[in-house]
Amino acid sequence: MLTRRILGALAGATALSLTLAAPAVAEPIVLKFSHVVAPDTPKGKGAAKFEELAELYTDGAVDVEVYPNSQLYKDKEELEALQLGAVQMLAPSLAKFGPLGVQDFEVFDLPFIFPSYEALHKVTQGDVGKMLFEKLEDKGIAGLAYWDNGFKIMSANSPLHVPDDFLGLKMRIQSSKVLEAEMNALGAVPQVMAFSEVYQALQTGVVDGTENPPSNMYTQKMNEVQSDATLSYHGYLGYAVIVNKQFWDGLPEDVRAGLEKAMAEATDYANGIAKEENDKALAAMMETGTTEFHELTDDERAQWIEVLAPVHDEMADRIGADTIAAVKAATAE
Ligand code: LMR
Repeated sequence: MLTRRILGALAGATALSLTLAAPAVAEPIVLKFSHVVAPDTPKGKGAAKFEELAELYTDGAVDVEVYPNSQLYKDKEELEALQLGAVQMLAPSLAKFGPLGVQDFEVFDLPFIFPSYEALHKVTQGDVGKMLFEKLEDKGIAGLAYWDNGFKIMSANSPLHVPDDFLGLKMRIQSSKVLEAEMNALGAVPQVMAFSEVYQALQTGVVDGTENPPSNMYTQKMNEVQSDATLSYHGYLGYAVIVNKQFWDGLPEDVRAGLEKAMAEATDYANGIAKEENDKALAAMMETGTTEFHELTDDERAQWIEVLAPVHDEMADRIGADTIAAVKAATAE
């Protein structure tokens, strides 16, 4: 009896010592990265690359969960979710920061402000890009990187050669006052709408047309519900990769260093593929033949520029004249 009790106690003690001796398996830190586009886009591929590298460079201490296609949240909700800590990382379009109260980012929406990716990179990879990120800090957000998508084309169910062709068309835009001014200048009726709702709105005629880089248009099948598109490349669409600042600052230093390394490499990768992804998407849409693509003649382009140029002055108070000047100075370098 006694022996049995002792043996039982010993077995218990052994089990206990085994439990105590076993190394504690720390639960990984979960980093939820929510976005609104398809996995097969520059942003979608950048997010997947970050996931892979982040887990590698933190030795599994961080588990990145990527949620594409507005699976978790739509445009406006995702920013609220980030501030509340329900997700830790996003890459919203630069056109979507106005509702946060940081209107300077709408400088990226000004028509014809960036003649090329190279000019744009002087802003996003230079001091102006850093200055813009500082403006996010008192919103509880830290900016980590700028990721490219590309230059936008205009689509509708009628050809858009000259500004007069926009008269009265309902055009879906992202939530940017600059884009609203752009569509008004063209004579269209702008309608703000979440990205996830655009395909159906085009299909049912709630809106007539929209603007987006080819990669977004193709991966959402918008070409199937737009008969015409103009290769106007009148404006840029790109992203800021942002994190909840409290989450980021609270990470162990070595873990944060691993994530920074992963982000730097994912950024090089995403920016390296963006143009090619858009070229491929455009070629694929041309191939399917659902949409007729139009080039602008020199004269038509001159008309777009003339009508859209006043948007720069009109929006100066909203964006900040100093921010616009800083961007123009950087691109002119
Ligand atoms: C849009 O809403 O059209 C884009 O911002 C979507 C995106 O994230 O590229």
